[in-house]
Amino acid sequence: MNITIIHGQSHKGTSYYVGRELVKNFDSCQVEEFFLPKVIPDFCLGCYQCLKKDLSHCPHAEKCQPITEAMKNAELLIFTTPVYCMRSSAAMKSLFEHHFIWWMNHRPENSMFFKKAIVIAVGAGGGMKKATADIKVNLENWGISAIWSYSIASGVMLWNEVSKKKLDKIKRDMRDLADKIKRKSVRIKKGQKFHFAYMRFIQKINWCTPEDKAYWQEKGWHEHVRPWRVNL
Ligand SMILES: Cc1cc2nc3c(=O)[nH]c(=O)nc-3n(C[C@H](O)[C@H](O)[C@H](O)COP(=O)(O)O)c2cc1C
Repeated sequence: MNITIIHGQSHKGTSYYVGRELVKNFDSCQVEEFFLPKVIPDFCLGCYQCLKKDLSHCPHAEKCQPITEAMKNAELLIFTTPVYCMRSSAAMKSLFEHHFIWWMNHRPENSMFFKKAIVIAVGAGGGMKKATADIKVNLENWGISAIWSYSIASGVMLWNEVSKKKLDKIKRDMRDLADKIKRKSVRIKKGQKFHFAYMRFIQKINWCTPEDKAYWQEKGWHEHVRPWRVNL
């Protein structure tokens, strides 16, 4: 199994630890790992080059490309974030802003429909649900159906202050979560099919850019082809 793990902080703190603990439970897998904002230090400039042309025309394309490719190639995506101001880290949000054309209303990436994803958020005490929601909303709009989220309160600021009891709990939880992920096969949710159908309608009545429409037409999605039937 190919796993891509993306951390919303460049240091190896508690959220990093939880993500790595999960990965340990998958034997013989290929893992690609990225730290934000180290890999993509820039924010989206709102230049719309991705929308008018494609992702390769983003001014930060060179920095984004390795992570973009790793996300496309992975069967399992893992996102970890510390909770900052009751939300995910700005660096994590920046990753999604750099990939907004993958949203279903623009140019969804075919392979996303076949992936599993896990969202992990660690806060000192609050805001974890909203932090996971920040990430989940993007993954859902990319077309992913099999998404799990895990959040925990570290109760501390620094990784080396986390109690032994909490670390043991994380270990147990990650073992259980990995088992669940391995057991479940990907099934496209009805909601995703409906979402796709609605976006297809939007495309057909031209409430979209000509470039988006050309992309859907090239994929055959205006006809009978559906992204979840063939993993291209
Ligand atoms: C800028 C900043 C904002 C934070 N905001 C929150 C917050 O809103 N809620 C919370 O529970 N913890 C907050 N924290 C604490 C961290 O989320 C917490 O210490 C977490 O365990 C850090 O994870 P890490 O070791 O992976 O960086 C904040 C920390 C920083 C640096």
